[in-house]
Amino acid sequence: MDQFLITGGTPIKGEVNISGAKNAALPLLAAMILAESPTTLNNVPTLQDVRTLIKLIEGLGIVIEKQGDTVTCNTKTINSYFAPYDLVKTMRASILVLGPLLARFGEAEVSLPGGCAIGSRPVDQHLKAFEAMGASIVVENGYVKAKAPEGGRLIGCNHTFDMVTVGGTENVLIAATLVKGTMVLENCAKEPEVVDLANMLVAMGAKISGIGTSTMTIEGVESLHGCEYSVVPDRIETGSYLAGALMSAAVFGEGDVTCHRTDEKLLSPVIKKFKEMGANVTTGEDWIRVQMQGRPKAVDIRTTPHPGFPTDMQAQLMAACCLAEGTSTIIENIFENRFMHVPELRRLGAKIKVDGHTAIVKGVEGFKAAPVMATDLRASMSLVMAAAVAEAGGKTLLDRIYHIDRGYEDVENKLRGLGVVIERVKSK
Ligand code: UD1
Repeated sequence: MDQFLITGGTPIKGEVNISGAKNAALPLLAAMILAESPTTLNNVPTLQDVRTLIKLIEGLGIVIEKQGDTVTCNTKTINSYFAPYDLVKTMRASILVLGPLLARFGEAEVSLPGGCAIGSRPVDQHLKAFEAMGASIVVENGYVKAKAPEGGRLIGCNHTFDMVTVGGTENVLIAATLVKGTMVLENCAKEPEVVDLANMLVAMGAKISGIGTSTMTIEGVESLHGCEYSVVPDRIETGSYLAGALMSAAVFGEGDVTCHRTDEKLLSPVIKKFKEMGANVTTGEDWIRVQMQGRPKAVDIRTTPHPGFPTDMQAQLMAACCLAEGTSTIIENIFENRFMHVPELRRLGAKIKVDGHTAIVKGVEGFKAAPVMATDLRASMSLVMAAAVAEAGGKTLLDRIYHIDRGYEDVENKLRGLGVVIERVKSK
């Protein structure tokens, strides 16, 4: 298994190009299953999760080619509607193939994703909506077996999600494009990745109104065609690198990170927190620069669905709060178990108390080096940044970096461009 060896003591400064968003690329790849003619997707990041989904879609008999950051897809040869446990278990987003298969072919059998590190994360909201659309759903031996009603087509209806779910909204939206009649979906997630998906579906011939709001109305069409589309920039990757500037300033007196090929509009709640912490943030059409001098100020953060503060940035901001002047309060409202990075940050010298969904972070002056373990995708980046600004020459060995490979493209090179001293090593 690979590990990262990070040597502390270098300021985080420099420029980095941002990749296409993992969380947009996955639903867009799933949506390609709907297209009756070839689809081309650009700006697709090269990541483990993308490879997993491509493998799963190829397993259905669909022809996918990936060259650089472009993926082309031809569904003509599809011959299976089955997604096996082996692939689904490694990535929860695999459940996103259920909607398109059910909508276009009238049937699907997809393994349940099972538990995962950041909570139980059920898919009840996905299934409840498909049932409301007339599908019969049986959950048996760990598999969801779904069948469209007589005639093979899902039926439009009014449906309200019981909670805001990103994956649920995406799965159901994809399926709703082909319903008989009209589908009104309420309490939808409004994340930029949901908007990106809706825009691509429209480019494929879907009729969707209310994109970017909590109510979307979808007038069903008989079929969708392929299109050429480009994945939105990764707002979480952007925020992760920018957070490094704050951590660097806390220890070395300055930090300065510019992200290119990104979009400040996607990051408003995060930029707001950076500013509250004292950072100078400047932006252009496709870039964001965060400059910081001295220790950041403590802040209070509550994760909420978009346009609130994203849960996927909670760990990275917590790492910055660990070095801030004063005490910060961080409340995690989306996932029940998303403080697993706390014990790891403590190993690096952080002072954090957790009480249920709340973490109280008392700022310290610096991190120490120590062996630590990545606990989930985004948490791993908080540990990398913390290790980078840790005591000069201190070596932090970060284990289980397969988490980071799932979501950050070309991560070592990008980090090196920001001055981080990092090496990939094999565990003994
Ligand atoms: C997506 C993102 C993930 C992000 C999360 C919240 C992808 C591939 N992943 O995950 O990075 O952290 O949104 O912004 O886009 N829930 C249910 N029943 C359901 C569905 C969800 O109870 O049927 C619960 C979950 O357990 C969780 C909450 O709702 O507590 C939010 O989950 P959801 O928005 O669905 O997250 P994902 O789509 O899995």
